[in-house]
Amino acid sequence: MDKIKITGGKCLEGKIYISGAKNAALPLICASLLTDETVTLTNMPMLSDIKAMNALLEQLGTQIDEFDDFVDNHPSKTYSYRTKEATSLTAPYDYVRKMRASYYVLGPLLARYGKCELSLPGGCAIGARPMDIHLSSLEQMGASIEIKNGYIHAKVDKRLKGAHIIFPMVSVGATCNVLMAATLAEGRTVLENAAKEPEIGDLANLLNAMGAKIEGIGTAVLTIDGVDKLHGAKHKVIADRIEAGSYAVAAAITRGKIELINALPSTLKRPMQVLRDMGVRVTENENSILVDAKGCTLVGKDIMTEPFPGFPTDLQAQFLALMLTAEGASMITETIFENRFMHVPELLRMGANINVHGHASAIVRGVKKLSGAPVMATDLRASFALILAGLVAEGETIVNRVYHLDRGYEKLEEKLRGVGAQIERIKDDSEG
Ligand code: UD1
Repeated sequence: MDKIKITGGKCLEGKIYISGAKNAALPLICASLLTDETVTLTNMPMLSDIKAMNALLEQLGTQIDEFDDFVDNHPSKTYSYRTKEATSLTAPYDYVRKMRASYYVLGPLLARYGKCELSLPGGCAIGARPMDIHLSSLEQMGASIEIKNGYIHAKVDKRLKGAHIIFPMVSVGATCNVLMAATLAEGRTVLENAAKEPEIGDLANLLNAMGAKIEGIGTAVLTIDGVDKLHGAKHKVIADRIEAGSYAVAAAITRGKIELINALPSTLKRPMQVLRDMGVRVTENENSILVDAKGCTLVGKDIMTEPFPGFPTDLQAQFLALMLTAEGASMITETIFENRFMHVPELLRMGANINVHGHASAIVRGVKKLSGAPVMATDLRASFALILAGLVAEGETIVNRVYHLDRGYEKLEEKLRGVGAQIERIKDDSEG
């Protein structure tokens, strides 16, 4: 397994181009299963999760073509997806265990073919993450669901039926899955307490471009009038707000200055406000954000994760790392996942001062310095928090289990080196 070596202490300065959003791209890919025509997605990030989703769709019978492309003068990938006729309606265990988001094939396959078998995703490092809301919503639309031998067996006679669904809690995954299913259902579906994350708006925009009839995009109530058939479309994936927020913290933690090119300020209001409250200068332009912490003394700030537009759980670990370099104490409260402080013991090994209370909150006290150490994390965003700590730590930090980072950060070392970080990948040659 590769490692990343960072020598801390450099002040980062320059521009970083923000890639297309992983969490938008994954459901967008699955939306292509709703039609027999071609769906083309541009500004796709080059990430292992995208490759994993592509492999699953190929297994279902989708023809995928990949093109090198330029979006906003930056190299990116364009993929076209065509599922003329699915050759399998099963998402096997080996695919789902590698990537939970494989569950996004459920809504589209059930809506188009009336049947889908999906290996039930297990828990993951950050929590139990059940699928009960996805399944009960599809049942309300007429699906019968059985769980047998670790698989969800979902089927429906003829067609899903529109329903008035009130989600018991805000779920990004359930909103996307049921939204896709509802586009081909008979009649009107109303989704109340829907998630409002920008990635859902991106999905709804593609679905409408494919001929769906969705209203209420960006609000907690989505109204979908089912249609008989969807057609092909071309769509540009929105910028990755979590990647942008992560590099904003890289600027702040090194007291540097980074312009996040292609970042969408409207998707990052709360995290940028936290940076401002801490004492960082943040300037929002139409398609970029300038984060300037040069010469700044930062003060700690309390954070509580919440569904969008609240503070994103996917930036909690990175901001926790930042608070270590601020004056005073900060309280970090995690309300979305039950096990999302797994980065804390590793940060403690680097000299951090953090007290975790139960599973839900942590008090972070600023420290004079962090010191480099070999560390590893159990999930994607926690791994980036360790990179951030390594950027300011004295000496060398080795971050193990780099495959987590490859799931969600395109060209990580290249982007950080471009703004002056001393960072390199150490290839694992244990097999050679
Ligand atoms: C998505 C994101 C993930 C982000 C999360 C919250 C993708 C691929 N992943 O995950 O990066 O951290 O949103 O913003 O986009 N829940 C249930 N039952 C369900 C569904 C969810 O109890 O049927 C719970 C979950 O365990 C969790 C909470 O609801 O506690 C929110 O989860 P959800 O919004 O569904 O997260 P994901 O879609 O899995």
